[in-house]
Amino acid sequence: MKRILVTGATGQIGSELTIALRHAYGEANVIAAGHQRRPECDLRESGPYCAMDIRDAEWLEQTVRESRIDTIFHLASVLSVVAEQRPQLAWEINMGGLYKVLETALQFGCAVFFPSSIGAFGPGTPLENTPQVTIQRPNTIYGITKLAGELLCDYYYHRFGVDVRGLRLPGLISYKTLPGGGTTDYAVEIFYAALTEGRYCCFLKPDSRLDMMYMPDAIRAIMMLMEADDEKLIHRNAYNVTAMNFTPEELTVQIRRSIPDFTIEYDIDPTRQAIADSWPRYMDDSAARAEWGWEPHYDLVTTTQEMLAHLAVKLAEPKEDDHAAR
Ligand code: SER
Repeated sequence: MKRILVTGATGQIGSELTIALRHAYGEANVIAAGHQRRPECDLRESGPYCAMDIRDAEWLEQTVRESRIDTIFHLASVLSVVAEQRPQLAWEINMGGLYKVLETALQFGCAVFFPSSIGAFGPGTPLENTPQVTIQRPNTIYGITKLAGELLCDYYYHRFGVDVRGLRLPGLISYKTLPGGGTTDYAVEIFYAALTEGRYCCFLKPDSRLDMMYMPDAIRAIMMLMEADDEKLIHRNAYNVTAMNFTPEELTVQIRRSIPDFTIEYDIDPTRQAIADSWPRYMDDSAARAEWGWEPHYDLVTTTQEMLAHLAVKLAEPKEDDHAAR
């Protein structure tokens, strides 16, 4: 990896991955691309940034050619809740975008990272210790695009030799950039609410258990996979990775260790609850551990401590707006 393009760079993952890649591979070698004209300052000041629409195939081709890109981290995507509201747009962005990225990678010999998700599972999947290879019949458009994306990535590797690698990420918890319309967003919102209001109204049931990960682990997982020894990768794509799992009730108990007066109430959103109910409580990530040494560093206790500490500092600072992922 010498010349890198990150699509969806202003989103929850992209805003942190871009900075980490710039530290590792040199600031000028990592081009960030996102749909915002003016992203937050560390993204635009730490290296090249382009405003783009992932549906613009010409832009993609031209950027990869002119900037001699050899690796594309393709993060531009519509998340689960927004996707249910705008399924046609989700198909266009999630599938159309991936197809163009894979075609461009094939044409210019690039490696590709593709983030799949716990959303790629669905009813019929064993939801506890969800195996690496199992039944996948997602019933959300988000899940359908993620599963079809996994298959398309496999196809481009086996048929054309494009080095496409990917992870099935659980819900991601981070303090830097808000997630943009996902089912697991409560696990980020709750920290902001705890620090600003001392209370939170949760859209999922108190006992909804979901697979989760703190962002530094996710960034490390993505970079490890892309640097992993090609010969050791049996699955290569769509690796289950996990770090912790909890319910809103259990997260509340942890937050109360630091903010004893914090209260939670529940106003269940049936759409998001139905999505959560069809997703794994926790995945079996033994393939990732065995093939490229995956191991999480953060659990619920340390994630809660870090989130509260970092957010307290962030919320006390003068604001640059949080940028929602598409
Ligand atoms: N965090 C995503 C969502 O909730 C799942 O991949 O949509």
